[in-house]
Amino acid sequence: MVQTSYDSVPYGVAAYSDTHIARLHMIGRLLGMEPPDFRRARVLELGCAAGGNLLPMADQYRASDFIGIDLSPVQIRQGRELTAELGLSNIALRAESIVDFPASAGKFDYIICHGTYSWVPPEVRPKILDIVRHHLSPNGLAVISYNTLPGWAAVRGLRDIMNYHVAPLRTPEEKIAQARALLQLILDAQFDRTSAYAAVIEHEIKVINAATDQYLFHEHLEENNQPFYFHEFVAQANDHHLDYLCDTDLAISQLGNYASSVGQFLSRTTDPVRLEQYLDFVSNRRFRASIVMQRGLAANRGFRVERVEEFWLLSAALPDRVPPDGPLAPHEKLTFRIPNGGTFSSGDDASAALFLTLFHHRDKPISVKALVAEAKARYLLPHPEAALRRIACDTVLRLFLSKGVNLLPEPGREVATVSPRPVALPFARAAARRSERVTNARHEIVVLNGPSRAVLLLLDGTRDRRALIDNLDAAARRGELTMRQHGNPVTDVGLIAAQIGALVDGALTALAENALLIG
Ligand SMILES: C[S@@+](CC[C@H](N)C(=O)[O-])C[C@H]1O[C@@H](n2cnc3c(N)ncnc32)[C@H](O)[C@@H]1O
Repeated sequence: MVQTSYDSVPYGVAAYSDTHIARLHMIGRLLGMEPPDFRRARVLELGCAAGGNLLPMADQYRASDFIGIDLSPVQIRQGRELTAELGLSNIALRAESIVDFPASAGKFDYIICHGTYSWVPPEVRPKILDIVRHHLSPNGLAVISYNTLPGWAAVRGLRDIMNYHVAPLRTPEEKIAQARALLQLILDAQFDRTSAYAAVIEHEIKVINAATDQYLFHEHLEENNQPFYFHEFVAQANDHHLDYLCDTDLAISQLGNYASSVGQFLSRTTDPVRLEQYLDFVSNRRFRASIVMQRGLAANRGFRVERVEEFWLLSAALPDRVPPDGPLAPHEKLTFRIPNGGTFSSGDDASAALFLTLFHHRDKPISVKALVAEAKARYLLPHPEAALRRIACDTVLRLFLSKGVNLLPEPGREVATVSPRPVALPFARAAARRSERVTNARHEIVVLNGPSRAVLLLLDGTRDRRALIDNLDAAARRGELTMRQHGNPVTDVGLIAAQIGALVDGALTALAENALLIG
């Protein structure tokens, strides 16, 4: 059996909400396509590692069938253990190479190849595109992610430096520690901390510090990591009879999200690939997740705004003030802050009422129909419901394209409030037995602290708050959970008991806020 670097340093728990089949479906629908129903689909992932991306989807959509292949037997074994623990019969994880993918495998409605295209030897890349060409169903969608230039150009030098330094070292642990240490040393040695070189190193240290050891190892210390210009990737896909549809992050191709001078400069660019390439130049992009499809599928890529009504909305936008319920001023201007630092404003009572109602539902997705009904009732809007629905679809689409709101295919399994006997997402409980990184009901990674992880493991619906406190209290007394105050371990039994109530409450609230509770 082939041994790979992923056997010695497995990639760990990794789910990517941008590659979720329901999101691919949503994007296709918005762009006027008829992608296959993700609830009854055949799904393939190439380079699936331990199934961290595929398993939560298989758990969620039991009527869909999933196949994941990866070269690393160790990772596949880990994924199979989790499959068995969750009792899933709709997923097969196989230790095999992409180059040996059987021609008899049939068609797939969705094909995912995340974090693999840039990271395999050159001869494997055409095979990935070949598989997509021959095995993607006629209306299917595939997502392939890769590192991009020009963003990777500056980082490539640092990668070379780290690789040179760690080449004589033997264990992955030594290599990871030494790579981190050398970058820091080089930064500390800069007399001019305002230089371009210092800025690049400083930025990369930030990226690496926020990432796992596995990321550092496989991103920088792997033999293969080939970035491409976006137009190069599209040409490679075209060579395999595949068309580029869009990025999983639609915001990156919206001119409105860039300085107005960029819009003016590109105003006569009609080729969408050329246009996006320039946007990569402007933003120094270093990573993309491109959606591709069979040639000739989407002649018209315009957004179908009325299809926004098919989705549930979740907004993280915070208003500068929250007016009381009741009529708003006809030109009510409220400014909302979105997590990426941007802002948007309402210009009238209808849009202000809709955005405020979305804000009141920031814990739980809401449908357009329910949003309109609630906004109308809360703020006593005189507008007819049909007009409000049109305004809602229009403004929500604009917000979605600037990352102010997310569109979800379903209301979601998560509950926003803590019930008397809370139940955690079973997949997250299984993952929490292995790691502090778990996947939530929105297919996002949540990193748990000690108490949250301990509480999550107990949430099978049989325990109330008292039972959770007793369990944690016992764990603390056995020394399995260390309480801290001002950074020091607490040994006083009374103090432990007093802290545990607050810890359990804090953990439950955090788990609910992070979409980890389903009952
Ligand atoms: C950087 S990791 C990404 C893993 C996962 N898709 C993710 O994004 O978290 C690349 C994966 O591709 C797998 N891989 C590399 N070459 C492969 C090949 N020829 N066939 C199948 N898998 C391969 C590796 O074992 C590894 O799990």
